[in-house]
Amino acid sequence: MLDIGGSHGLYSIELCRKNPALSSTILELPGAVDEASAIAAREGMSDRVKHRSGNALTDDLGEALYDLVVINNVVHHFTVPQNNELARRIHRALKPGGLYGIGEFIRRDTPRTGDVIGAMGSLYFALTSASGTWSEAEIRGWQKQAGFKTEKAMALMSLPGWKMVLARK
Ligand SMILES: C[S@@+](CC[C@H](N)C(=O)[O-])C[C@H]1O[C@@H](n2cnc3c(N)ncnc32)[C@H](O)[C@@H]1O
Repeated sequence: MLDIGGSHGLYSIELCRKNPALSSTILELPGAVDEASAIAAREGMSDRVKHRSGNALTDDLGEALYDLVVINNVVHHFTVPQNNELARRIHRALKPGGLYGIGEFIRRDTPRTGDVIGAMGSLYFALTSASGTWSEAEIRGWQKQAGFKTEKAMALMSLPGWKMVLARK
């Protein structure tokens, strides 16, 4: 699997622990890799979870290399054109039948529907980064234009408002 912006690596580490055949490449910005790879090393998973220093927006992601690509809590930093282009490059990087999972706090499609986390998150990321939170329909739009088929999104009881929006090549 490829874990884009996977930082500390704890998502990759848990997925690899649950799936003994799985290994993960974490693509992270150079400034984060030293600290992040030390965390993965402490977990004793350095043989199957490795960091790659780079930029997901500009690096070559390869062709038909991965069964799974995840990007958790990162697309709120990217614009619509960046997320569309990234989805196309991830589609190319996945093997046939591979899964693309985008994990995010989801903003509602319409305002005033009790969505405090999604709306405040959008304001926060607009002020501190280049973008904001997204609705599930917006995220699905990037996946569809890249040629993915929609899969059921997964919500977590322990993290209200967050979803893993899944699509299959
Ligand atoms: C909010 S953290 C999410 C970390 C982890 N995925 C999680 O959910 O806990 C966002 C991460 O994305 C990384 N990131 C931001 N832009 C990136 C890019 N263009 N390429 C690779 N990583 C990027 C940051 O360095 C940071 O570690």
